[in-house]
Amino acid sequence: MKSLLLSLGLLMMVTACKTTSAPEASLYQRIGGKEMLYTISSQTLDKVAQDPATKRSFEGVKMATLKQSLADFLCVQTGGDCVYEGETMKNSHAELNITTAEFELMVQDLRDTLDANHIGTREKNELLKILAPMKRDVVTK
Ligand code: HEM
Repeated sequence: MKSLLLSLGLLMMVTACKTTSAPEASLYQRIGGKEMLYTISSQTLDKVAQDPATKRSFEGVKMATLKQSLADFLCVQTGGDCVYEGETMKNSHAELNITTAEFELMVQDLRDTLDANHIGTREKNELLKILAPMKRDVVTK
């Protein structure tokens, strides 16, 4: 009887713990917040803007502004409390004639940047899953 009561008591404690545990952190929080998203934006854009296979679209573009805009965009997309004031993906890429090859190279640069900053596999896959459907708005050629 005593051990039954003890087991019941333990069970109640475990259940109480489960119901009071904090909600899962957002992708934004798990990635590392605004600062890390800015780092990811900046390093990825440095790579695409320097690679001869992707750099043509960035000629004449104000990179400091673009880096901040992409960071804000990623912040909103991952559940952060930011304001993105830029254009839609369709409008901002409409005139650029971006190819599938260029899109895939940028995704690879993003993957490399996430790895270099030790972002977890789960977070990396969640972010890539959010961005993947945007291909239809970015690639126009
Ligand atoms: C899922 C992939 C992509 C996302 C999420 C993305 C996101 C963005 C964002 C948020 C902006 C800023 C728009 C604004 O401030 O109004 C932007 C602009 C730009 N993107 Fe992308 N982009 C993607 C793919 C690409 C690719 C593959 C290229 C070229 C290789 C590219 C080239 C550019 C350029 C050149 C601009 C600046 C346009 C301008 O200022 O006139 N983007 N992108």
